[in-house]
Order: sequence, then structure tokens, then C-alpha cells
Amino acid sequence: MKATAKAHTNIALIKYWGKRNESIILPTNSSLSLTLDGFYTTTTVDFSEEYTKDQFTLNERPIEGEQLRRVTGFLDLIRQHAGKSLHAAVHSVNEVPTAAGFASSASGFAALAAAGSKAIGLDLPERELSALTRQGSGSACRSIYGGFAEWEMGTKEDGSDSYAVPIAPAEHWDLRVAAVVLSSKMKKVSSRTGMKRTVETSPFYQGWLDSIPAEMNQIKEGIKELDFEKVGEVAEANCLKMHATTLGANPPFTYWHDTTMTVMETVREMREKGIPAYFTIDAGPNVKVLYLPENEEVIKNTLRTIPGVADIRLSRPGQGVTYL
Ligand code: ADP
Ligand code: DP6
Repeated sequence: MKATAKAHTNIALIKYWGKRNESIILPTNSSLSLTLDGFYTTTTVDFSEEYTKDQFTLNERPIEGEQLRRVTGFLDLIRQHAGKSLHAAVHSVNEVPTAAGFASSASGFAALAAAGSKAIGLDLPERELSALTRQGSGSACRSIYGGFAEWEMGTKEDGSDSYAVPIAPAEHWDLRVAAVVLSSKMKKVSSRTGMKRTVETSPFYQGWLDSIPAEMNQIKEGIKELDFEKVGEVAEANCLKMHATTLGANPPFTYWHDTTMTVMETVREMREKGIPAYFTIDAGPNVKVLYLPENEEVIKNTLRTIPGVADIRLSRPGQGVTYL
């Protein structure tokens, strides 16, 4: 009982930042993302009576400890769903840096959910697959779809209405993203730890939640109308609000690095010179720059000159989960 699936990472334009239920991963706000073709995971899951325990290799290396526990915990959900108790061998390859702020958990859990559920014989509709994926890592539930996807937070306690839905396919709009990789990294507070601390202690958290519905409406309009300025302005403002909540947390923290701020400033300067570009940043120091295809050369060349920038990785809108 074997299946292989490929899934891409996504970048949130309206961020998921906070949980109302930590065990089944239910968010406190809806979020919206763009799936990226440049970063992906391919995972094969093989359920067999021959295995006496679950095994997990990542990039051909056997994995133990916390990373194995997360995979085994997720396989338990799949087994429970299917009413089967078989162990599995999971082989995964990340075409994305692992645990470095490039959302390997999103492509990783989306590929694992798709391959695992198919291998065990579950034929899940996309919404159910998304709701299952959500329980591995929240942001991963959006990677089931290509292009633009919204994770609707839902209101039910059992999480059955908390899943992602497609907003527009990859072909709708060739919106590009440059991932700016910094040469040195700050000590990492994981997104899981960071959002928990913020929900529990930041006085700015309620302001964050209050701002989401209007921003969600605006960005969906912008995507529909292919209005780059509208989408960029909302995404940048939403990112800054999310990061502002961390400064109010106890103990306070920030994901930003000095070069993070230099990249943000460079993007603003490009805009002043008439080159449309906007930034967004997840729970790490690296910056993602949104731009249109006609400005790719100037964006790439400008970002490359910033001291402390190690690499620029360019992405187009990516496809949803596929089975190989
Ligand atoms: P990021 O998502 O930015 O790479 P995180 O620390 O949020 O960083 O998530 C990384 C974790 O996601 C890994 O430590 C591992 O537990 C899990 N992960 C990453 N890639 C895979 C994969 N291909 N299959 C299963 N789990 C994965
Ligand atoms: C800042 O999905 O990694 O990237 O649900 O605890 O696994 P868990 O968190 P995760 O958080 C992502 C946070 C973010 C914003 C986003 O992708 O929406």
C-alpha cells in the first residue's frame, strides 16, 4: 500500500498567527496564501504488515527524535481515519531548506497527508485532505491547492469547518516572489512557540485580530482584479502588524535581523523610484519580495547588492498537490 505525492510551500499574504485549539490546530484568524513553485517536497508512504514500527527518512537520512515523533503522530491520525493499524515507511525529499524559515513544514505535511491518505486507501475530497493536513502544521493546509488559497478558520470545536479553499488557480495571475536568503540567522523562536507566547501575553494581539476581516476582503478583491498595488499594500501591512505583536509579548521578541530591515528599506526605496515591489516576512529573518514579471531583472539585481544577502530564490505561482 504505497503512494507518492508532491506538494509546494506557500507564502502567507494574510498571516495565520495564533491558535484557539493547540491539539487539533484551530486558528484564531483566517489566512490567505500563494503557493510557490520554487520550493517543494516529494514524499512516499508505504504501509505494510512487514513493518513493526514507523520509519522516516528525510533527504535519504534516517530521522529519529522530535521530527520522527511528528511524522508518527500524523500517521496515527491517518490510521485512525482509515481504521487500520499498519506501520509505514516514509521517504521524503525536501527541495526546500528544512527548518530554516522557508516553510518546509507546509510542503512536508501536505505531501505526507496526500501520500499517506492515498496509500492507506482513503480517497479524501480536497477539503477533508486540507483539514487533515492542518493537524500536522496549520499553514500546510493551504498547500493542498495551487495559486491563491484561503484557510477559513471555522467556528466548530471539532475543527470540521477549518480547512483551506481555493481562491484562484496559479494560472490566474503570474505574481512572483523573490525569497531573500540572509547569510546569518537569528536564534529561532519557532512559529509554534512565537504565536503561543503572543496570544497569551501581547496586548497588541486583539488589534491584530480586529484588523483581519477588512484586510481579507481587500486582498481578495485585489487578487480578483489583478491589482498589484492593492495586494502588495495589504500584504505588507498585514506582515508588519503580525510582527508588531511579537514586540508586545512577554518576554518580547522579534524575528528581524539588521539585514531584514535593510531589505525592507530597499523595497520601499524601489517603490519610490517607481518599481512596484512589496515585502512580507514569516517567522524568521528572511524577506519575501512580491513583484511582477516585467521587473524581475531589476528586483533581482537590486536585492543582490545588499550586504548580508546570501542568495535570491525566485518563484512563480505553484500547483497544488499532485500524485506521482
Ligand atoms: P520551516 O517550516 O520554516 O522549515 P519549522 O521549524 O516550522 O520550519 O518546521 C520544520 C519542521 O517540519 C521539521 O523540523 C520537521 O519536523 C517538519 N518537516 C519538514 N520537512 C518535512 C518533511 N518533508 N516531512 C515531514 N516533516 C517535515
Ligand atoms: C508566520 O504553520 O508553522 O508562517 O501550525 O504550529 O505548525 P503550526 O505553525 P506554522 O505557522 C506559520 C506561521 C506563519 C504565517 C503563515 O504561514 O500563515
